[in-house]
Amino acid sequence: MDDRSKMRIAAARAAYGLEGQVAVVTGATSGIGRESALAMGIAGVRVVVNHRPGGEDKAQEVCAEIEAAGGTAMPGCADVSDEKQVDAMFERAVGKFGAVHILLANAGLQRGARFEEMTLADWRMVIDVNLTGQFLCARAAVRHFLARGMQPEISPALGKIIHMSSVHQGIPWAFEVNYAASKGGVMLLMKSLAQEFGDRRIRVNAIAPGAIKTPINTDAWQTDEARAELLKLIPYGRVGETIDIAQTALWLASDLSDYVHGETIFVDGGMMLYPAFRGGG
Ligand code: BGC
Repeated sequence: MDDRSKMRIAAARAAYGLEGQVAVVTGATSGIGRESALAMGIAGVRVVVNHRPGGEDKAQEVCAEIEAAGGTAMPGCADVSDEKQVDAMFERAVGKFGAVHILLANAGLQRGARFEEMTLADWRMVIDVNLTGQFLCARAAVRHFLARGMQPEISPALGKIIHMSSVHQGIPWAFEVNYAASKGGVMLLMKSLAQEFGDRRIRVNAIAPGAIKTPINTDAWQTDEARAELLKLIPYGRVGETIDIAQTALWLASDLSDYVHGETIFVDGGMMLYPAFRGGG
């Protein structure tokens, strides 16, 4: 995150009202998850920086960056597709910070292939991490929220869950059918949870990023030719940055968005506007 963004978030810290709340951010060692964990940490959230087994060093780096900005963080090791590891990570988070108020279920990956060549392992890996991982983390968060009860001095919500979806929850994606299927699933996981838990004041929403510069899609933006092709799909005329998503996550996690429930916020520079139809059709 650049210094200007850090200063902007730090200056708005009181307005977000997130000080003292605790967030679990999954997939927090790179890309959108890392930036969102940093943004929350700078805004005063105590952050559990989730990483896969073996990713401890990177998680420590994120924690150190949060602490250097005056925040509090701990690494949270768990493969999100592993039930025991997820539950144990939530137990450690509650043990250390006393409660969890926010889940940003972000961890995700792609394993694209021509459909006739896609292996069952490719399919399973993507569904396991992107969809089952979000189920397991949301379930652990919901169980904790219900057991803990309201803390009205901290938040008007019992808890807040943000699912990281994608424009591909709605846009079909040839050669990435496992990924598109996982994000379509995330959309209805989110909406069904929002319907089930609204009366308990668990606020559930999703963010659907478009093309954001992260390690997941370097092929799509690193060369001039690739970027020119990609920009044809983005009416706003620039490829997204991780800060674009992090500041949306911050707002959705905060109680500034307290009446936003069951929504997907598209942060995509207009990718959902079907730009190929401009002047055509
Ligand atoms: C994918 C990226 C892709 C973007 C737009 C995201 O969900 O992870 O690889 O660039 O959607 O297609």
